[in-house]
Amino acid sequence: MKKSIFLRLNSKNIVTFLEDLFERRGNEEYLGEPVTMAQHMLQGAKLAEQKGESDITIVATLLHDIGHFTSEFGMFNMSDTSDKFHENSGAEILKRFFPKLVTDCVQFHVAAKRYLCATDPSYMNRLSKASIHSLHLQGGPMNRKEIIEFEKKPYLNEILKVRLFDDAGKDPEMKTPPFSYYAPRVQHIVDQHVTALEN
Ligand SMILES: [Fe+2]
Repeated sequence: MKKSIFLRLNSKNIVTFLEDLFERRGNEEYLGEPVTMAQHMLQGAKLAEQKGESDITIVATLLHDIGHFTSEFGMFNMSDTSDKFHENSGAEILKRFFPKLVTDCVQFHVAAKRYLCATDPSYMNRLSKASIHSLHLQGGPMNRKEIIEFEKKPYLNEILKVRLFDDAGKDPEMKTPPFSYYAPRVQHIVDQHVTALEN
């Protein structure tokens, strides 16, 4: 991501910036999957809402792959032979405006896949082909030591929930509301976070 964009962002324009990313780049292919990037993230958010999850979990799901848009390393591709760490660039852009629960869900959604592959024998069978391809680039299932460390994360449950909505949001037939439907909730979470930081 260009540094100048990063410097221009503030709590009043971050949501417009995110919405603009969804609109301008959301139609990009989510490579290896039968949905676009925007469909994928909006589907995850819709599934989270349908399950009665909190707004913060819905918003974390909505934004979990935002790093695919902002990463200076570009998009994941099925021919990739190394990982591009989109989870880190996503968390990087969000961390000034969103609480740790959201940024942890974004930053660790790839680690959550590695965790679930190691701890739930049925999980890997449910992954898409593209997700299995990227799993190998991301280090494969976690080892024992990594599992123990990962289980110490304060937002482990939310991180795993977001991961499962991520995996489920790949349905070419599903209809979703646009980003603007979620925008007031995204702004509310930003406002609450910024106010808490100021006090
Ligand atoms: Fe995703």
